[in-house]
Amino acid sequence: MKEDLQVYDNVLQLIGNTPLIQLNKITQEFKGEFFAKVEAFNPGHSAKDRIALYIIEEAERKGILKPGSTIIETTSGNTGFSIAMVSVIKGYECILAVSSKASNDKIDMLKTMGAKVYVCPAHVSADDPRSYYQVAKRLHSETKGSVYINQYFNELNIDAHFNSTGPEIWKQTEGKITHLVACSGTGGTISGTARYLKQQNPEMKVIGIDAYGSVLKKYHETKEFDSGEIYPYRIEGLGKNLIPSATDFEIIDRFVKVSDEDSAHTARELAKTEGLFVGYTSGAATQGLKQLAEEGEFDENSNVVVIFPDHGSRYMGKVFSDDWMEEQGFFDTKNEIEAQPIEFIK
Ligand SMILES: Cc1ncc(COP(=O)(O)O)c(C=O)c1O
Repeated sequence: MKEDLQVYDNVLQLIGNTPLIQLNKITQEFKGEFFAKVEAFNPGHSAKDRIALYIIEEAERKGILKPGSTIIETTSGNTGFSIAMVSVIKGYECILAVSSKASNDKIDMLKTMGAKVYVCPAHVSADDPRSYYQVAKRLHSETKGSVYINQYFNELNIDAHFNSTGPEIWKQTEGKITHLVACSGTGGTISGTARYLKQQNPEMKVIGIDAYGSVLKKYHETKEFDSGEIYPYRIEGLGKNLIPSATDFEIIDRFVKVSDEDSAHTARELAKTEGLFVGYTSGAATQGLKQLAEEGEFDENSNVVVIFPDHGSRYMGKVFSDDWMEEQGFFDTKNEIEAQPIEFIK
């Protein structure tokens, strides 16, 4: 920031230093204190701003990226948005291979940020030439002077959180954090944050949130990749059908699986109870908290930090649409929060 002026040079200077906000109502029955690291306060509205800026600046430092270079990535939306935002400011071309599971809103946002978008089928195996991994690899080999961010297999994804999210949480909790609860997709957020925090306090517990339909939990427990675990699910950005090397499985103490339906209702509940309009995986992480509290994971001395990866506005056509919830059959089961009627005045 310029001296004496309340002005930032550009939007990238606002990345990181997100707030830690106490959860009051949704956790009131649980033992312990609960705090959400709300990553929607990043200028690109997600935790992925951190890795986009960090990885791109590392490539610049190493002389890999030159003005006008092309940056390529696979993304369920958030990483793409962040890379596109950084590319705009720094003057790079941005090409994104996106899963067809991503909402139309997310795809439109990427295009708005100047990215070229390829939409690839979601329910094919990772080695299928149509998968977004393979499409990105092909585009990288075909585009001269391009850089492939490769967030699932890039150690810098972990380093970005080791150098920012971890130290921020340590400082914000004055070292009193006892549990870190975070969703695992690439695993960069949980691994980098936990690596830093466990260096400060090896006793701290790290719990990953995984989806039903993903291989991560079983792999963590057995070291076996079981393709029988894989089936389609709705939550975007959480769980995986492969084993990302950006996940440090050793640093994670345990995984908990959450369902699409419970996570969707919990995301809606967060808005109504805490006034926090956050994304589907924030609902998933909080659903994980509920399951852990029920199991007795926490006690009166627990200071639990849960990471909320992104903003609710990215899910207007999904979790926050009553029509979508209805189509999924999420309103006709055990959950208490139901569609809220609208009254039309004529
Ligand atoms: C909405 C959302 N939540 C959670 C995650 C998981 O974060 P990470 O990839 O660092 O494990 C992602 C990553 O793609 C995401 O987009």
